[in-house]
Amino acid sequence: MLRYYTAGESHGQALVAFVSGLPAGLPIDIEAINHELHRRQLGYGRGGRQKIEKDRAEIFAGVRLGQTIGAPIAVRIENRDWANWEKILPVEASSAPEAASKKLVAPRPGHADLAGSQKFNFHDARFVLERASARETAARVAAGSFARQLLAQFGLRIASHTIQVGHARLERAAAWEEICAVGEDLESPLRCVDARTQEKMMADVDAALKAGDTVGGVFEIVAHGVPVGLGSHAQWDEKLDGKLAQALMSVQAVKAVEIGAGVLAAGSYGSEVQDEISYDKKARRFRRASNRAGGLEGGITNGEDVVIRGYLKPISTLRKPMGTADMVTKEPVQAAYERSDWCVVPAGGVAGEAMVALVLADAFLQKFGGDSLAETRRNFESYGRQIDEF
Ligand SMILES: Cc1cc2nc3c(=O)[nH]c(=O)nc-3n(C[C@H](O)[C@H](O)[C@H](O)COP(=O)(O)O)c2cc1C
Repeated sequence: MLRYYTAGESHGQALVAFVSGLPAGLPIDIEAINHELHRRQLGYGRGGRQKIEKDRAEIFAGVRLGQTIGAPIAVRIENRDWANWEKILPVEASSAPEAASKKLVAPRPGHADLAGSQKFNFHDARFVLERASARETAARVAAGSFARQLLAQFGLRIASHTIQVGHARLERAAAWEEICAVGEDLESPLRCVDARTQEKMMADVDAALKAGDTVGGVFEIVAHGVPVGLGSHAQWDEKLDGKLAQALMSVQAVKAVEIGAGVLAAGSYGSEVQDEISYDKKARRFRRASNRAGGLEGGITNGEDVVIRGYLKPISTLRKPMGTADMVTKEPVQAAYERSDWCVVPAGGVAGEAMVALVLADAFLQKFGGDSLAETRRNFESYGRQIDEF
């Protein structure tokens, strides 16, 4: 239903995202896209690249007079750093000395450098890392913003916050309002709802920097206002929990995904894990006493908030490099280092929000369809009546 792809390399001219399948007549706010792009650039522990870039979306297809027209959308984000790389990575063949100046033959453990070079048959990981780089998440965030704007029309909102950085972890649950507030706080260093925990997180980021090391962490994404019935139990590839996990796992450096209380649940009794159901006669709604399922049962949304966490490994580029083997000489050497972040948990959360928005928007359009926003709305409202009368 909703299809999306990205193109572009970290130091190429630009990143591009394509989004196809949105209904016509959806109002598009370009500044909302730029706002998301800006949020992705923030966070304590980012490298010098974010000082160069000022990501802005330039839509050049699929949106006219401020709304979608049912045609594929194409959006471009300029890489300002291209000015420094034009001679190093030109599109045309080049024998200029610059073109050989950024070869990378000492693959970094944990990066796509070696596996990608072997697979695509390059003895220069530059061609691999340029695309593997999480700079690509800027294009995903732009694509995700279109999905968010569709979902917002129907009362669905998505926010994220940081629950762990390095060894410091938030030890309490966060309310939806708190998550929204910190998620939108452009001054918040790590987007943690608890000031004291955030200080400890920052201390760990500082310690990593001092040691030439990096830190990982955990971000939590909450989707609020999600209707009952997105996704399906009927086939393995229709299960929404599976789709969300795949989408989040595809974010660079995410190595585990958890839905609701998934990890803790595995070591608990069933009675401690399931969410008891009741019926609120006044509101004519089924309620759950808790939301340990994270809003998903049987691969179907159950009307509670969808809660999903991404576990990020520490960044692989280390200022104090690990051992590796030279791809050409095969001799032991130190892994390459180039300008890098050392903590990206809040930015990972913003990329994760985009992926969750795209998956939910796709499930939403599968359920409600519609070539125009008006048609989608009619279908949504009719289903709402079915739920009211259930
Ligand atoms: C927002 C964000 C920024 C990142 N920045 C860097 C970086 O500056 N340096 C680095 O080595 N890895 C960075 N990464 C992680 C790598 O892109 C990732 O580890 C690498 O592509 C290998 O993929 P994998 O870890 O998913 O297996 C970043 C990840 C995210 C989500």
